[in-house]
Order: sequence, then C-alpha cells, then structure tokens
Amino acid sequence: MEDWVSIGYLISAALFIFGLKKLGHPRTAPYGNQLGAMGMLVAVITTVVSMQLAGGAEWILIGAGLVTGSLIGYWLAVKVEMTGMPELVAMFNGFGGAASALVALSEIWKYLEDSSTVPEGLKLTVTMIAAGLSALVGWMTLTGSMLAMYKLKGGISVFGKWIKTPTWGPSWLNGVKILLLVAVGVLIYYSICEPTNTDYMWGIIGISCLLGIILVLPIGGADMPVVVSLLNSLSGIAAAFTGFIIGNSVLIIAGSLVGASGLILTFIMCKAMNRTLLDVLFKSFGGSGEKASLTRTKVGSDADEVAMMIDGAQKVIIVPGYGMAVSQCQHQVKEFADLIKEKFDTEVKYAIHPVAGRMPGHMNVLLAEANVPYEQLIEMDEINSEFPDCDVAVIIGANDTTNPAARSGEGPLAGMPIIDADMARTVVIIKRSLSVGYAGVDNDLFYMDKTMMLFGDGKAMMSQLNTAIKEI
Ligand code: TAP
Repeated sequence: MEDWVSIGYLISAALFIFGLKKLGHPRTAPYGNQLGAMGMLVAVITTVVSMQLAGGAEWILIGAGLVTGSLIGYWLAVKVEMTGMPELVAMFNGFGGAASALVALSEIWKYLEDSSTVPEGLKLTVTMIAAGLSALVGWMTLTGSMLAMYKLKGGISVFGKWIKTPTWGPSWLNGVKILLLVAVGVLIYYSICEPTNTDYMWGIIGISCLLGIILVLPIGGADMPVVVSLLNSLSGIAAAFTGFIIGNSVLIIAGSLVGASGLILTFIMCKAMNRTLLDVLFKSFGGSGEKASLTRTKVGSDADEVAMMIDGAQKVIIVPGYGMAVSQCQHQVKEFADLIKEKFDTEVKYAIHPVAGRMPGHMNVLLAEANVPYEQLIEMDEINSEFPDCDVAVIIGANDTTNPAARSGEGPLAGMPIIDADMARTVVIIKRSLSVGYAGVDNDLFYMDKTMMLFGDGKAMMSQLNTAIKEI
C-alpha cells in the first residue's frame, strides 16, 4: 500500500512542478494554475486514503474542514475586487504559515500526552529543530502577513474610525530582532533537552509572533512588494519544515517549491527596487509613512486638447499604473491604442514597471485580460531607452513608478528605477488629482511644462479621450 501512497504523492509533486513551469508565461498561466489545483486534489485524496488505511480517518472532521474551507475560499474568490487581491494573497500567506506551524505543534503535543512516542537521539534533535523552525517561520509569517495586509490597505477601521497603519523602525530595533532570533535558538535547544515540556514551544510561538510584527513594521512605501513576496516564500518554508516532522514527502516538495519560487520573486522585486534584501529588512527604506503635503497647483487639460496633440504623434508609449487597476479601464486603454494605430498610423507600446500596481505582474494580467498582445508589453529596462524618441507618453494612474524623485537618492523612493516617461517629448497624465502615490512622495513630473494633466477617473477619461479621437 505504501507504494500507492508514494505514487500518489509523486503524481501530485509532478503536477506542482509542471504547473509552476506553466505559470512562467501569461498565456499558459491559467493552465498552470489548474495543474497546481489538480496536484493539490491528488495530494489531499492520497493523504485521506492513507489515513483511512492506517487505522481510520476522522471523516466527519475532515469533511467539515473541506466543506468549510471550500466555501470560504469560493466566497472570497468571488467577492474580492481585483484591487483587493494583494491583501487577500497576504492573508493567505499568513494562514498558510500558521497552518503549517499548527500541524508541527500537534506532533509535539503528542509527546506530552504519551512520553513513549518521544523519539530518541538524532531523530529527536532533528524533529525538535524542525518543529522550532516551523513555529518560528509559521507564526512570524502569520503576524507579519496580517500587518502587511493592513499596510497594503493603508489602515484599519476600528468602530468606524480609520486608523492608519504605522511605519516605524528606529535602528535599535535591528538589535531587538537579532536578540529575539537568538532567544528562539536557545529555546529550541532547551526543547531538545526536555521534549515533553511544551512551555518552550509556547515561548517560541510568542517570540515569533512579535518578530513578524517588528520585521514588517519598519517597511513601508514602495518596498512593500519585497516584504509580501518574502512572506509568501516563508509560508512555503514553514510547510517544508512541517513536512520533515510528520514525514510527508509531498509537503516537503510543495513547501520547498513555494519557498524557492517566493525567494526568486523576492530577489526580482529587490532588483526592481534597486535594493538588497538585507537593506529592505534592516534599513527601513520605506520612510515614515507620512504623505507629502501638496502646495503646488497645475491647470488641467481636456480630452479634445489631448486628442489633437496625439493626432500628430508618430510614437506613443502607454504607462499603466495602479490607477488603471482601480478604475478597471484596461479595455478603454486597448481601444485607445487600436484607435490611434488605425486612425493616425501611430506606433504604440506599453511600458511595464515591475512593481506597478499592487502585486507582481498586476499590469500584465489586466492588459492580457483586455487582449493586448504580449509583444507590446515591454519591460522597463528595455523600453526606457525609447522615451527620448517618443512623442507622447500617456500615463494612466501611475505615480511612484514614474516619479523622478527616485533619482534624487533621498526619500522613500530613493534609488528605485523608474519608467523614464519624463524623457518623452510630451507627457499626458490621467489621474483624479495631484495627490501622491503609494510611497507618499510628491511628483515633479506633474508640474513640468511638457506635462498635460487630464484630471478624472481613469475609465471616464479614457472613454472621453477615445470619443474625442473618433471625432477628429
Ligand atoms: P501609485 O504610485 O500607487 O499611484 C497610483 C495613482 O493612481 C495614485 O496617485 C492615484 O492618484 C491614481 N488613481 C487611483 N485611483 C484612480 C482612478 N480611479 N483613476 C485614475 N487614477 C487613479 O501607482 P504605481 O505607479 O503603479 O506604483 C505602485 C506603488 O505601489 C509603488 O510604490 C510600489 O512599490 C507599491 N506596491 C507595489 C506592489 C506590487 S507587487 N506591484 C505591492 C505593494 C506596493 P489620484 O488619487 O490623484 O487619482
């Protein structure tokens, strides 16, 4: 029978790996997602069947868990807005980490109830180290992810009062982080010496919860993408540790895949922000969380004026940002690109910043949904050299990712590479006001002479612009 269980786990591991491979391209990503889900189904069925054969599965408990989990998952997936997706992902990361840590805790709990189950020698050492690390990473991921979720939201509503999520990180906090990590190491050592005393594990859980909070608290502004992908990676690592404790190979494989791919994404995000991971974790780049106060003004343009100016353009680069996601105007953006290509024979490209929006690949997903050909989506590094030859850069709801303040070396955006839209001959910016972006930094680009501001909701403004172009 063990052979069949191994084959079941092998099939599900293979489905995870192929699924991950397919996720590498937007065209094949939906299929990759289905493969991953299928892999999870095979893993669940294999586990339940093996439990039944090993002495009887708790069918009522398992059934109740499956039904409740599926209903909550379905409800959240249907209810969540596209703009709320990053918060949902952060929350799922947290629950994934906590679930793994709870499974590890339940294994250790058995030692308390029946001391004859305590392993000996090297096996005891390995189990207790894995349980301690699973608790450390899992609980840290839970509290860190909850805080990250509220940071992405911008705050929390308590009895109808909106409380902004703070960003706070004096340099001495780094010393506290290291001390807490050492304390966890000491507690793991004592838990090996006294495996039936669960107090050590409660100590590790408490410290880990605190660590999650003080790890995420100093990170703010534009650096949030790094922390969210790191927490995603940590939830996988916690699962892999738990896999070692309960001797479940598919959990080790799936956890390692999530851990490794999350870490790769974290480094991609670090590169996009021009930071090292250590800088993000220990230097508190994100700033104080205070938004810049705006004193300057700028007269807005109207859709007819912008349409006339685009009439003469040979090359237009569209720069989408978070505002496009909020207003869901990707279809109007595609219509705009098609219109000017057809009517004015204009060359059109899209400039994609790696952290535009609120989740990795946010712009790609939205534009793919509107059937924009992938070849027209050009990554920042590749397209930046084209802006000096570009007649009009049309920025739709992007702010931080185009903010020249990032080149200054100061403030929350310091050092972050940006889309060089300010190098285009004319810049059109569609947004509702002169207000700041996620990092809270005022944007000089709005006030340049060559910039035309089209104030309003992205969808409404794009529709007006399309109507004006059709009337030319
Ligand atoms: P942001 O800097 O966040 O600016 C978005 C702009 O969209 C706002 O200034 C807002 O201005 C405008 N906007 C909002 N609703 C709109 C609507 N309905 N119609 C038109 N405009 C609207 O955007 P960005 O350039 O995409 O930069 C992303 C930022 O988020 C970066 O700082 C990044 O680090 C951070 N972040 C990214 C991620 C990932 S993984 N991508 C995760 C977390 C954080 P108005 O209010 O004036 O309209």
